Amino acid sequence: RLHRIACIPGDGIGVDITDAAIRVLTTLSSTLGGFEFDFTTFDWSSDNYLSRGYYMPSDGLSQLRAFDAIYFGAVGSPAVPDHISLWSLILPIRKALNQYVNVRPTRMLQGVKSPLGECATEDLDWVIVRENSEGEYSGQGGVSHEDTAHAVATEVSVFTQVGIERIMRFAFETAKGRPRKKLTMVTKSNAQRHGKFPHLIPTEESVLGGFFLVAHGGLGMVLWDKVFYEVAKDYPDVEIDKMLVDAMTVRMVLHPKTLDTIVATNLHADILSDLAAALSGSIGIAPSSNLDPTRANPSMFEPIHGSAPDIAGKGIANPVGAFWSAAEMVRWVGEEKAADGLMKAIENVTARGVKTKDLGGSEDTKGVTDAVCQEIEDL
Ligand code: NAI
Ligand code: MG
Repeated sequence: RLHRIACIPGDGIGVDITDAAIRVLTTLSSTLGGFEFDFTTFDWSSDNYLSRGYYMPSDGLSQLRAFDAIYFGAVGSPAVPDHISLWSLILPIRKALNQYVNVRPTRMLQGVKSPLGECATEDLDWVIVRENSEGEYSGQGGVSHEDTAHAVATEVSVFTQVGIERIMRFAFETAKGRPRKKLTMVTKSNAQRHGKFPHLIPTEESVLGGFFLVAHGGLGMVLWDKVFYEVAKDYPDVEIDKMLVDAMTVRMVLHPKTLDTIVATNLHADILSDLAAALSGSIGIAPSSNLDPTRANPSMFEPIHGSAPDIAGKGIANPVGAFWSAAEMVRWVGEEKAADGLMKAIENVTARGVKTKDLGGSEDTKGVTDAVCQEIEDL
């Protein structure tokens, strides 16, 4: 079985961890046999943007469509404004390839300590299901009177019935497939209420200066709540509850054991998954899968962290999130046994205390990668 993988290392530590992931995946296929990876690397970095003027070439998305899966490092450079790099590369790929689900599992790995103190494997074992196509990252909005004292900028969250329903179904299916069958839904629907969109009213008294439009009403998170309860009717065996995002951060820290599967909007899940990663040891270990569940397009796998310019080029990035993401990719392309083997190898290595500095260890990226490759060979 041949799996064609598009690799986009991107910037900063994205390059180091993608190299490490390719090494581990190559070791995995040659050791276990029965399948092979054919990697094609796309150099769509910020450096190239600065020299050529673009990240992806104009046919970039159609090039990606020819692959079975995409492996992504990270994008972002101090030399390019972050909204340009994200909106030139990662966000267009997620949207164009219909990757409307972002799955972010978090659990305590053997040998890893939580900043919460004593935290056994069963105390923190979550899957965050992030809506990945709309909401706060819809790309709708604009700025008027830019560069004046009266500038007004809007970033409009768009929630659609179709968009909410499909993420809810995925989240319920995920919860149903896990032992505890528990789903917690997160919004901020008390404040980000359902308004008539786009309901903008001109105002003379506006604090914004007297002649601008102000948004009246709000975002569509009440619709999100409504669809959640509608879809819940099809899953009577899944236990549900609802949280506001601010209280959710507290619950994650104080009562981690009460949570299992979590579904949240694009922005909220983005924030909660960084917190989840930190609580489980480090942002450097957390994986993510950008999935097109219809499988009409390739899905994309990447650690949740960014390009970490503060440690880029030092060879000390934690590659565990990259390996875990690679394991999710291996599972998605149908190599279940190899995915389990890779996870076991990763966990054997952390259990032995072979860890990077962010996890309290003293190894570098190469040291951890060598150890994981060795574990794979010893499986
Ligand atoms: P970041 O995740 O890159 O770094 C946050 C902190 O965590 C830094 O102190 C970093 O050193 C540490 N860290 C991250 N990954 C690590 C790893 N594997 N091992 C050890 N330490 C690790 O987030 P930040 O600093 O907010 O963003 C840096 C750049 O990355 C920005 O340009 C941002 O836009 C971009 N970014 C890109 C993402 C993507 O490509 N999907 C996601 C998040 C941020
Ligand atoms: Mg993030």
